[in-house]
Amino acid sequence: MTRTPVNVTVTGAAGQIGYALLFRIASGQLLGADVPVKLRLLEIPQGVKAAEGTAMELDDCAFPLLQGIDIFDDANQAFSGANVALLVGARPRTAGMERGDLLAANGGIFGPQGKAINDNAADDIKVLVVGNPANTNALIAQQHAPDVPADRFTAMTRLDHNRAIAQLAKKTGAAVSDISKVTIWGNHSATQYPDIFHAEIAGKNAAEAVADEQWLADDFIPTVAKRGAAIIDARGASSAASAANAAIDHVYTWVNGTAEGDWTSAGVVSDGSYGVPEGLISSFPVTAKNGRFEIVQGLDINAFSRPRIDASVAELVAERDEVKKLGLI
Ligand code: NAD
Ligand code: LMR
Repeated sequence: MTRTPVNVTVTGAAGQIGYALLFRIASGQLLGADVPVKLRLLEIPQGVKAAEGTAMELDDCAFPLLQGIDIFDDANQAFSGANVALLVGARPRTAGMERGDLLAANGGIFGPQGKAINDNAADDIKVLVVGNPANTNALIAQQHAPDVPADRFTAMTRLDHNRAIAQLAKKTGAAVSDISKVTIWGNHSATQYPDIFHAEIAGKNAAEAVADEQWLADDFIPTVAKRGAAIIDARGASSAASAANAAIDHVYTWVNGTAEGDWTSAGVVSDGSYGVPEGLISSFPVTAKNGRFEIVQGLDINAFSRPRIDASVAELVAERDEVKKLGLI
């Protein structure tokens, strides 16, 4: 193997998403089947022993592409030389916690991690924030990394994107592989807006094929937007394998590009497109080329979509204002 390995830092490595994610990274699914990787795992001190156990299992897989595993409880060390950073570890919401409490707890994690990325990561660092509230955690990290181009910080809405494709396939009987150009707008939360007005099924407009606005409003949108809560209700724990799968999809697409004529969804720093205030990390339709996401421009936003996009963006603005008030950005 002559290629230089890519350093992939994963936080929250001992958690349930970490367990579903690390083996797929090590097997080559994150970056490509010919790209060697070194894993750098970050945990809190109480999580280190379990991360060591996972590292033993990774060893036992004898993955040809895996060239090393290091485990840290110090962010500066964990992000040293990182080319890709998956920020999964976060403080979960517990009973009685207000949104402000959750934002404050996570500000205490994502601010220092953003600074550690700023000070230690490789020049080509790409960051995906998975830990919730993902968009605002990504914003906090990005604001603490002034030397890193802002567009290297992204938040995960690929799980929502994949959920929307799956629901559309179920409704229409179409194959998943025939569905393109679905969009998730806004926040990774129940206010997100999954939009099929520009989506296509085997080249035909999806909204016209469905021709059922009531299904869209009363079934499709709430099913996709509240799927995370439905999984927690059914499984007794939040989505893990599907979240790890979406993280793999997000980074693979970012690095290797979107297919011609398609796009994906990602939380990226707004340039003001579609009326989303500049600087917010909001989900948009994006293409990827040469290792960069670009917001798809020029889509018509109809009267059904506009208030739904605006409502989710308003929630992001409120979260940003709250973390500003708390002195976290
Ligand atoms: P988990 O509780 O099983 O694991 C989280 C891990 O993070 C734990 O091992 C914990 O020790 C570790 N951790 C906590 N603080 C840390 C820190 N400062 N540094 C490093 N590690 C730290 O949770 P999970 O099921 O793996 O989920 C992780 C996060 O992903 C949660 O916030 C969850 O809500 C979020 N999530 C996001 C999406 C999405 O689509 N964006 C989907 C599913 C879950
Ligand atoms: C999901 O979308 O499955 C998760 O973000 C849900 C959660 O609150 O962890």
